[in-house]
Amino acid sequence: MRMGDRLPAGVRITEVVRETPSVSTIWFDHRFSFNPGQFVMVWVPGIDEVPMALSSQSSITVQKAGDATAALLSMKKGDQIGIRGPFGNGFSQKDDTLAIAGGVGAAPLLPLAMTGVVSTFVLGARTADELLFRKSLEKVTELRIMTDDGSAGNLGFAMKAMDDLSLDLYSQVCVCGPEKMMSAILLRLSEEGLEERGKFSLHRYMKCGCGVCGSCCIDPSGLRVCSEGPVFSGEMLLDCEFGHYSRDGSGRRRPV
Ligand SMILES: Cc1cc2nc3c(=O)[nH]c(=O)nc-3n(C[C@H](O)[C@H](O)[C@H](O)COP(=O)(O)OP(=O)(O)OC[C@H]3O[C@@H](n4cnc5c(N)ncnc54)[C@H](O)[C@@H]3O)c2cc1C
Ligand code: FES
Repeated sequence: MRMGDRLPAGVRITEVVRETPSVSTIWFDHRFSFNPGQFVMVWVPGIDEVPMALSSQSSITVQKAGDATAALLSMKKGDQIGIRGPFGNGFSQKDDTLAIAGGVGAAPLLPLAMTGVVSTFVLGARTADELLFRKSLEKVTELRIMTDDGSAGNLGFAMKAMDDLSLDLYSQVCVCGPEKMMSAILLRLSEEGLEERGKFSLHRYMKCGCGVCGSCCIDPSGLRVCSEGPVFSGEMLLDCEFGHYSRDGSGRRRPV
């Protein structure tokens, strides 16, 4: 089902599952028809409305950042939240996809892997206990683990796993994670002339979520992350603010 674009519709929380020490999945009593990588605007009563990728037809997977995410993480079965969407474009479902996720960036990539198109999935996290969706991913794809401290898989950042892969064998490289990680991956792909195969899911401050307010526009093109994104191909992100800065709620630049 699709909820309204303008007004949130209420859904009831059915379960909150702790995935890692800092991330939980919130399940609710509606099933959305969506393309992996699309997001919803989640209204947290009395606090704020924030964008969240759908991690399945009936869930979002949340990491604490500030007030709204802290409130979401404190919610219990039976609590109500409001949802608008799904919004945005999402990832294309092409066979022989390489997915690369850092931290909670695994949330929009899990449903893509569940379709069976991801042949290799690189999952990165700071430590072993922060690896998100490890067990689910192991069942559906060849999983390569990277941790910053070497406590699981190989030692190093997620992009280091690219050294052992023949990138030109993949139809696309779908990426979500910290922007520094994503911009380093774009640089690496462009060094091999493969930037158009990179598909990057961007996080930007969002107010309306549906193309009206302009708060999520990327300099200098003005492309709206909520409408033309959140997934952009690598060549669209060369020579723009990506990897350098984003804007906060009042439009001020914040370095990435
Ligand atoms: C399309 C999309 C999908 C997302 N999917 C997920 C998801 O699946 N799971 C998840 O945990 N999070 C996701 N996020 C991020 C999530 O929306 C933010 O963490 C949330 O809005 C923070 O709200 P808050 O009130 O908790 O924190 P706030 O108080 O709003 O922010 C906490 C801190 O983070 C900074 N900040 C917040 N948003 C941005 C931004 N866009 N750019 C730069 N700095 C920022 C603030 O300035 C502040 O310092 C997604 C974002 C987008 C745009
Ligand atoms: S959030 Fe309003 S235009 Fe994108």
